[in-house]
Amino acid sequence: MQAQLSAPPSQCHPFGMMMQYITGYWVSQAIYTLTKLGVPEELKNGPASAETLAERLSANPDFLYRLLRASSAMGLLEAHDNRQFSLSPLGQLLRDNVPNSMRAIVLMMGEEHLTAWNRLLDGVQTGQTPFEMEFGTQCFDYLEKNQRAGDLFNAAMTSFVENEVSQVTAAYDFGQFEQLVDVGGGHGRLLASILKQNPQLSGVVFDLPHVVNGAAAIFEQEGVSDRAKAEGGDFFQSVPANADGYIMSHIIHDWSDSKSLEILKNIRQVIRPNGKLLLAETVILPGPNAINSTLMDLNMLVMTPGGRERTRAEYEALLSQAGFSLVRIIPVSTMVSIIEAVPAAL
Ligand SMILES: C[S@@+](CC[C@H](N)C(=O)[O-])C[C@H]1O[C@@H](n2cnc3c(N)ncnc32)[C@H](O)[C@@H]1O
Repeated sequence: MQAQLSAPPSQCHPFGMMMQYITGYWVSQAIYTLTKLGVPEELKNGPASAETLAERLSANPDFLYRLLRASSAMGLLEAHDNRQFSLSPLGQLLRDNVPNSMRAIVLMMGEEHLTAWNRLLDGVQTGQTPFEMEFGTQCFDYLEKNQRAGDLFNAAMTSFVENEVSQVTAAYDFGQFEQLVDVGGGHGRLLASILKQNPQLSGVVFDLPHVVNGAAAIFEQEGVSDRAKAEGGDFFQSVPANADGYIMSHIIHDWSDSKSLEILKNIRQVIRPNGKLLLAETVILPGPNAINSTLMDLNMLVMTPGGRERTRAEYEALLSQAGFSLVRIIPVSTMVSIIEAVPAAL
């Protein structure tokens, strides 16, 4: 996932800096409310007044006006005469079905994620996962049983991948492989882009059966259906065998070391001896990316069954226990690196 926070400038006044942190949820809740109400979609054809929008969206005109005014102060809308507002270029990202849409991410973060984050204190006190304390079940089981939340999660994951896919494909030579398996590949967005750029390559997206069903449409849309397969299954049981490339994007960070080892060992058992394993993950590095990676680590603490972001040394140790050697880490963006590993001699 890509959060792009920046560390506060050191010359910033401490009270102002602290207020920005303390009131962070004012901003996120305003963006969530604007999006959930459907304002960005209503404004796609041009400006409208607060009163017109309130009527169309069944909202209170005065309260809506104040939300629109704050949203324009945040740069999401542009304010015009007569209480009219239009979408700014930044606000366009809140629409559905536009390039790099972030609508699903906004809605996902403002719903079960937010409720679970409200239990952070309980989690830190007890060592239990806040999501499970709140919802009584592990997050991936919850997403399977709650179709609305599951659809939103998969759409948000596809948006994250869309945002980073061109950087991942530019940073690594996938042309060296014959057969690539994307383990936990969701709706196949990443695999489809890699196949599109490498016409000799074929691939499999592997994920839970109810998730992977969504891949056919993306393969079709990207024109790679003849070389791409979707396979449903459980990566704790097994993964598709005999490929020379395995990629896992934002998978290992969802799981504890012991669960991660189960997945990695399943890949180790079936990867070709000359194959490569690639993990696209946030690596906790010292320096300016630490605010993003360490807050994402807290998000993993809140949401996942034992997941965490890891340092280079932690990835090296984990991979080695599963029978892989870490070869190199290729930085892709402030939030994503590709960790390249090869099977170690048994
Ligand atoms: C954080 S998402 C990452 C999705 C995608 N790779 C990406 O980069 O956006 C984790 C993925 O792991 C899948 N997953 C969870 N448990 C799984 C299991 N036991 N077997 C296979 N896939 C699983 C989820 O359905 C989801 O698509």
